[in-house]
Amino acid sequence: MIKPIGSDELQPRFVYDVAEHDALSKEAESLPSVVISSQAAGNAVMMGGGYFNPLQGYMNVADAMGAAQNMTLTDGSFFPVPILCLLQNVDAIKDAKRIALRDPNVDGNPVLAVMDVDAIEEVSDEQMKTMTQKVFRTEDMEHPGVAAFNSQGRFAVSGPIQVLNFSYFLDEFPDTFRTAVEIRNEITERGWNKVVAFQTRNPMHLAHEELCHMAMERLGCDGLVIHMLLGKLKPGDIPAPVRDAAIRKMVELYFPPNSAMVTGYGFDMLYAGPREAVLHAYFRQNMGATHFIVGRDHAGVGDYYGAFDAQTIFDEEVPEGALQIEIFKADHTAWSKKLNKVVMMREAPDHTKDDFVLLSGTKVREMLGQGIAPPKEFSRPEVAKILIDYYQSLQK
Ligand code: ADX
Repeated sequence: MIKPIGSDELQPRFVYDVAEHDALSKEAESLPSVVISSQAAGNAVMMGGGYFNPLQGYMNVADAMGAAQNMTLTDGSFFPVPILCLLQNVDAIKDAKRIALRDPNVDGNPVLAVMDVDAIEEVSDEQMKTMTQKVFRTEDMEHPGVAAFNSQGRFAVSGPIQVLNFSYFLDEFPDTFRTAVEIRNEITERGWNKVVAFQTRNPMHLAHEELCHMAMERLGCDGLVIHMLLGKLKPGDIPAPVRDAAIRKMVELYFPPNSAMVTGYGFDMLYAGPREAVLHAYFRQNMGATHFIVGRDHAGVGDYYGAFDAQTIFDEEVPEGALQIEIFKADHTAWSKKLNKVVMMREAPDHTKDDFVLLSGTKVREMLGQGIAPPKEFSRPEVAKILIDYYQSLQK
């Protein structure tokens, strides 16, 4: 099986030992504590599940700057984005060596993790600007990821963490939320050797479904792991429970048994396009995938990134040998009216734009909102029904 990044075995930061977990939970209640940002909570959930292996905790400013500038930490290891715990106010934890991090996304702000504090540093304007520019390729506060990153505060608290729970993800998505450890185990149980992972934050239309079929066929994979984002999205994106239901229906009806796993991870969307694609590949290797699909405008938003920037970054910026997982670089897929099937557009050179069924996201949302199913060349009717029910529920 493909090795995790940085160690032979995954080293998740979740405390699995029951006695140790009990003791830590008790201790946490008496520690100085602070409510962290949603992004920092997502980082803890990811580290808890082993996805960010071999990171042990939040980065200090030097490591975060290295990750942002050239994806390289001060010890020379590879990590594609800063993993920070940025706080507005550190009065409650000043001088503390061990602190409890409280969850902003769960009622009553229970303790999510305990941290051994290595440092509390103030991040300068210049450093925030550099990190923003390098990670998002823009400093425009209209960009939802830039706005979220810059709204967290300026104090970076760094040090190793021990994670006590998986925030709201296990309660809200018991069938779908999985740690990297669990996904590795399930891949082994299923006996899969070549495994392709598919990232998504959307319901899957026919172009997505066929993209997965094409990747599996061309790579000769025995399994597909659909791995959806379950954390926060920008307004207008489809909520995770609806997406989850639509994807499950599609897999049930259109994938052979034992060929696809429907899973998800607890992290807020960054909308960082190319950089997020590299992070996506990073944690898919950790969960045991050998291949990762990167298609058109992967993890993009608005017009901030070129359609294939998230593919070229792997050749242009990722240090040689940093990742073992292989990237399946896909062209725009769409239904061809001439060939009566979904194709990669560059593989149909005799076609003009009119030969494809292409609908914008806005158009599709408009149709679904009016109770109209998109054409079957665009969406499976069973998937369209779930989405129509959702859009109509919004209008009540
Ligand atoms: S993402 O933000 O999670 O990347 P989305 O769920 O829309 O958004 O996309 C999931 C994956 O499918 C990404 O790799 C994206 O590039 C790819 N993709 C989506 N639509 C198409 C398409 N029509 N053609 C090719 N790739 C696509």
